[in-house]
Amino acid sequence: MTGMDALTHAVESYIGRSNTEETASYAKEAVRLIFDNLEASYDNGHDLKARCEMQRAAFKAGLAFTRAYVGNIHAIAHTLGGYYNMPHRWANAVIMPHVLEYYGSAVHKPLSELADAAGITQQSGEEQDKAATFIEAIRRMNEKMDIPEKVEEIEDEDVPGMIENAYREANPLYPVPVIFDRSDFEHIYNEIRK
Ligand SMILES: [Fe+2]
Repeated sequence: MTGMDALTHAVESYIGRSNTEETASYAKEAVRLIFDNLEASYDNGHDLKARCEMQRAAFKAGLAFTRAYVGNIHAIAHTLGGYYNMPHRWANAVIMPHVLEYYGSAVHKPLSELADAAGITQQSGEEQDKAATFIEAIRRMNEKMDIPEKVEEIEDEDVPGMIENAYREANPLYPVPVIFDRSDFEHIYNEIRK
């Protein structure tokens, strides 16, 4: 799950508006390392080479987001931590595919580039298809590592407060590819509930 948090750092910094040439290259490198090593680390905790590569990935993703920031995925994840004590890494992993899908065409290009960096698509493919492949790969990784698609803990009466907190955290600080208003956050909370 911590590996998926590192992936969220790489992805949110890469698709965000504060991305620079330097942070873009850190993020791409992190994505490549994570796609190459996370499942091996998960399958065998004694695979020190894979775990060492994951440390490098987490560090590179950290370099990327320290400069280029995170985004709406983190804003929502923090509310689940605050309300339900949900581990940060777990919340990001669950939320990431939902938000990336909701962003739609605004992130097709950057996600297609990350799909190429991950080595899961051919350079020549359509951006939209490559973005979909990238999101699907995240869903598959979650499934493989027993990370659920939804959050059971969310209570109806908490949703308005979480929307407000996520909205205030993300706006105007996070350089997100799509600025979420309260109704966008509401859509995502409804999407991730059982
Ligand atoms: Fe994080």
